[in-house]
Amino acid sequence: MSDSAYIFQTVRQAARIEEIIGEHIALRPAGRELVGLCPFHEDRRPSMYINPGKQIFYCFVCNSGGDVFRFVQNYHKMTPGEALRFLAQRYGIKLPEFRPNDPGQQQRASARENMLAAAAWAALWFADNLEKPSGAQCREYLVGRGLSTDTIRNFGLGAAPDNWTALAQAAVRAGVSEEHLLGAGLIKRRADGSPFDVFRNRAMFPIRDQSGRVIAFGGRTLPRAQTPSADAAVAAADSGDGPKYLNSPETAIFNKRDTLYGLDAARQSIIRDKTVVVVEGYMDVIACHQVGVTNVVATLGTALTEKHVTLLRRFAQKVVLLFDSDDAGRRAADRAIEMILKYPLDSRITHVPDGKDPFDFCMTHGPEPFKLLLARAPDVLDYKWQQIGRAMDAAPSLAEKQAASMTLLRLAAAGLTDPSTDPIRRGLLEKHLADKIGMTPDQVRKIVRQMPRSPDAAPAGNSDTSTAQAVSTDKLFAAEEWIIGVFLNHPALWRQFGAEFDLGLFTAGPLALLAQRLMGYLEGATDLEHCSIAEFIGTLDDAQLVTLAVRAQKRCENVVEPAKNMADTQAELRYQRRGIIGPPGADAAGEPEEPAARLALQQKAAQHGLMRRQLGPRPPGR
Ligand code: UTP
Ligand code: MN
Repeated sequence: MSDSAYIFQTVRQAARIEEIIGEHIALRPAGRELVGLCPFHEDRRPSMYINPGKQIFYCFVCNSGGDVFRFVQNYHKMTPGEALRFLAQRYGIKLPEFRPNDPGQQQRASARENMLAAAAWAALWFADNLEKPSGAQCREYLVGRGLSTDTIRNFGLGAAPDNWTALAQAAVRAGVSEEHLLGAGLIKRRADGSPFDVFRNRAMFPIRDQSGRVIAFGGRTLPRAQTPSADAAVAAADSGDGPKYLNSPETAIFNKRDTLYGLDAARQSIIRDKTVVVVEGYMDVIACHQVGVTNVVATLGTALTEKHVTLLRRFAQKVVLLFDSDDAGRRAADRAIEMILKYPLDSRITHVPDGKDPFDFCMTHGPEPFKLLLARAPDVLDYKWQQIGRAMDAAPSLAEKQAASMTLLRLAAAGLTDPSTDPIRRGLLEKHLADKIGMTPDQVRKIVRQMPRSPDAAPAGNSDTSTAQAVSTDKLFAAEEWIIGVFLNHPALWRQFGAEFDLGLFTAGPLALLAQRLMGYLEGATDLEHCSIAEFIGTLDDAQLVTLAVRAQKRCENVVEPAKNMADTQAELRYQRRGIIGPPGADAAGEPEEPAARLALQQKAAQHGLMRRQLGPRPPGR
């Protein structure tokens, strides 16, 4: 076995797929398996199954599936090498040294990996600066705002010196390439081609993805020491230093609409509490974590997007929106409410009293009042209704009452009419609104239907077509898949049937390719009793093959009398093939072709058809 195959195997044996997926998605037991919302399509109800016995996962709706490496690769958009390092680190397995000076190795690393490495290096460099004289002012600022040494370290905060080329020069000394820093958005080039630093004289907040890799930065202006203003930060923002927060540009490794600040630190608590708190600012997240409320994340100066909600739904059943109480915060809240209503989530919203932001509130009052505030957060519709009700009290005419009702309905209209809204959620919403306004759910439905449709309403989701196509594939395909599936579940059958296994029976295409790979694997296996599906799947480099393999094994999980049926199905396939290649009896000898034998085969085939239907995908809501 090659070194790298050996390393993959070691890591595969140490990793528990249910553990890894459970750290990314909330799972609940379902018989011998676990089930959760599939992260690879817009899953409405849990359709991803994890089989701890076989160490594989499988989604009934989008057909994604594979072993633990495949999950990590797809989920974090990692290369196989990155997934290996990720899992090795998680299970404390030491990998052979990465040699940065080995040009071959550098070339093999993907462009994304190089940018990630550059960003990781820069994060360390900024953090180091915080300890140096050039970072003293920044350190004073952060400590002055009440951040503890632990917090500064946990969030990897750093300092960008007041200098145009400090980072660019340090990179040259450290052997980090300019091209990768450019790619990661850390430097820019002047007209003459010379590089300069993007972040200067700022407190640096590394932005990490869910697995903790630095993908971008936010840099906050520092108050200028010589500014005598009471609000030095505001003065700094006005003094030509650019925006209060400067964020990395969108790059190959950073898309702010997909990213939530603090998710890496908050993920475990979110899964544990099934609740996530969404705030607006970096500093808010940091303060919440410092006082011990750790299920808090922030958007990155954008509105809450559908991407964000989809991401959070994997971990949480309840979302508490905690926006600032200024006008911008209220506008952000309205937009977020409108969007989040489509999702079957317990959605709450609140704000911090006295026009403060969560940072101030946590730092002045500590965790208990803050937790109380979160626990008392009203449902988003109740919140809106209260707001409208207050406005109504001021001028309580009938016309105004009606206007208020319409405002509330309009807010919920997107959620009610969008075809992707969960039907149960829609029914509950209608009832909830009807109670509030004093109408029947039918009346609510009618009014909402008549409202002008928002122009960006999504077309109806059609995510089930792939399954439908797969289920209705022709008989040959079904028989071929069945054979593969049974070998995957009962590799020991290879001893008995391997000799008869005929690749020529498979229709040319991905399934034939899979059959070939499986044959190679089973032929090469030293111990057929202990072959592992996960290991075989791990040898497949092509996502389509992985999907086919996982689906085949799933279909054939509960086959009765696999040995007997294997003989029959191979015979059936041989018979069917001949029908296609030439008239029956035109070639081989010794095959059953007299009417009685053919009839028997047809009956068997019909039985298989029946059996496959019975064993097909379980309905998602079982
Ligand atoms: P805030 O101005 O409320 O920042 O903006 P904050 O995180 O609470 O920080 P402090 O306490 O004022 O120091 C909220 C978020 O909006 C984005 C940032 O993500 C920030 O955390 N933002 C704000 C920008 O991207 N650019 C800006 O100029 C300002
Ligand atoms: Mn703020």
